[in-house]
Amino acid sequence: MTTNILDPRSLILVLLIIIQCSDAKKPNIILMMADDLGIGDVGCFGNTTIKTPNIDRLAREGAKLTQHLSASSLCTPSRAAFLTGRYPIRSGMAARGFARVTLFVAASGGLPTSETTFAELAKTAGYKTALLGKWHQGLSQDSLGDYEHHPNSQGFEYFYGYPLTNMKDFGKDTRESLFRSIFPYWNFQIVTAFVIMFICCTCLYSTRMVGLALYIILVIFGSSVLFTVHYAIIIRYRDFNSLLFRNKELVEQPMELSTLTRRFAAEGVEYLEKRRNDKEPFLLTIGWPHMHTYLDTAKAFVNRNKHGRYGDALEELDWGVGEILGALDRSNLADNTFIYFTSDNGGHLEERNADGEVHGGYNGIYKGGKAHGAVDGGIRMPTVLRYPPAVRPGTVIDEPTSLMDVFPTIANIIQTKLQPKLHIDGQDMMPLLSGKETVSSHDFMFHYCGDDIHAIRYRPRTGSSIWKLVLKSPNYLPGKQMCQFACSCQEAIVNDPPLLHDMTSDPSESRPVDGTRHPEVVSLMLKALEDHKDSIIPVINQLDMPRLLWKPWLQPCCGSFPSCSCSDEKFEGQFVE
Ligand SMILES: *[C@@H]1O[C@H](CO)[C@@H](O)[C@H](O)[C@H]1NC(C)=O
Repeated sequence: MTTNILDPRSLILVLLIIIQCSDAKKPNIILMMADDLGIGDVGCFGNTTIKTPNIDRLAREGAKLTQHLSASSLCTPSRAAFLTGRYPIRSGMAARGFARVTLFVAASGGLPTSETTFAELAKTAGYKTALLGKWHQGLSQDSLGDYEHHPNSQGFEYFYGYPLTNMKDFGKDTRESLFRSIFPYWNFQIVTAFVIMFICCTCLYSTRMVGLALYIILVIFGSSVLFTVHYAIIIRYRDFNSLLFRNKELVEQPMELSTLTRRFAAEGVEYLEKRRNDKEPFLLTIGWPHMHTYLDTAKAFVNRNKHGRYGDALEELDWGVGEILGALDRSNLADNTFIYFTSDNGGHLEERNADGEVHGGYNGIYKGGKAHGAVDGGIRMPTVLRYPPAVRPGTVIDEPTSLMDVFPTIANIIQTKLQPKLHIDGQDMMPLLSGKETVSSHDFMFHYCGDDIHAIRYRPRTGSSIWKLVLKSPNYLPGKQMCQFACSCQEAIVNDPPLLHDMTSDPSESRPVDGTRHPEVVSLMLKALEDHKDSIIPVINQLDMPRLLWKPWLQPCCGSFPSCSCSDEKFEGQFVE
């Protein structure tokens, strides 16, 4: 007996097969972001003294992007732009002041829920979504536990990671501290502040501007403010900010840094193994803790190269990437997965440990680094990706692309149409990656320092020149290409006239060309700048001083305040050395 294909049973069968096939075809997505990794640190970008075989493998089996630019040279704004595909100024995540990133878990600013992240995009398209590792986009807003800015409120169904960032202060070496690096005379400053406050109050009292009762209240109030500041940012900084969450549950305080990379790798492997038989595709994002200080690793990675603890951490980072690649291979998911690896900003050139050992990355031939505004060393990211269905092994993309491009590229991969009202600044990279196009779809890019634009990049539609017009340059220490600890946006040097560089022939930004010989290029760029500025709709600044400050009522705490301490039971005893 032959089957009649019009038989309803066969039709259902055919339909089921079609549904299953189209289901199977939705690609998975893995996005990995290192912290403060420099483009000169990685083997496939030319480093010969540190081995990164797993990152290099992705380049060999997929593509290497040599001009992949972050929207900021600092983590919070760069990551906000990465998540949303938009310049961070559009979400209120670009601030100019002293701190351009959130520094406390108990701050109230963060990525607004009105923003659409790539996780939300994928979730809406039926994807399972997860974030492991670093977030740094805020936590709560008005009350502890509203978790307004928590990853679970931004499209990530599963979160195992830390809401803030890694920090020098979180390590074993108690001599290392961020605030003490920025304000080396911290103790002196706090005492000075106290004395000034005391003198002012006494003056007010002695000139009979205030009575005795008010004088006492003022002195008590002033002293408690100073003490609170000192308590929160020096004495308890690590306890209050080195926090690890599983979804909305605080599971570790403070974090054990030496096992962190291994735990995120283990969680990643577990997640991938569970996905093997899923019908739904997944989007897994991993924010690796390395290379941000404090640098700590498993014993197995100590002293494997000549770059001290920085080198140890780099090899552990690459190992972590290898764990994920291995799990993907074992689950037979590799062929249908878009996997991407990048960094959030360039290597931190000024970073040293208490003994003067270099603990920041290397940005190769590119000028400057982390927090230097618009120079390429801070924004040109070591980026590799693999996507067997569309990207030929060994592809090299030298055209300008952006971390913001990941958002529209994902939209393409998951076959979702982007709403124009989202106002996405990124461009779909797929035409470039697959070789369909040879010129970047970005004609102009704007390089921010905080909320200020320090440079414009222009890729004409023809020829090979890529122009960079530098309006403001970092104000370096005399004779160095470094600042004290980080360069300030406000103290940048205004270039009048702006410096014009051809990045194709001068990628190190060392020989500006005469702008008056390219008047049409310069005027096109300045016009584009005005158009871009016009497109910015003012929003709440999430990183203004009141939002950045530590707020005791937003402080998560394991156990009872002020002891606050616990450790993640899931991995108890697993990685002890
Ligand atoms: C490799 O990276 C290390 C660590 O940042 C750096 O010190 C070194 O100069 C780099 N080596 C090369 C050959 O690029």
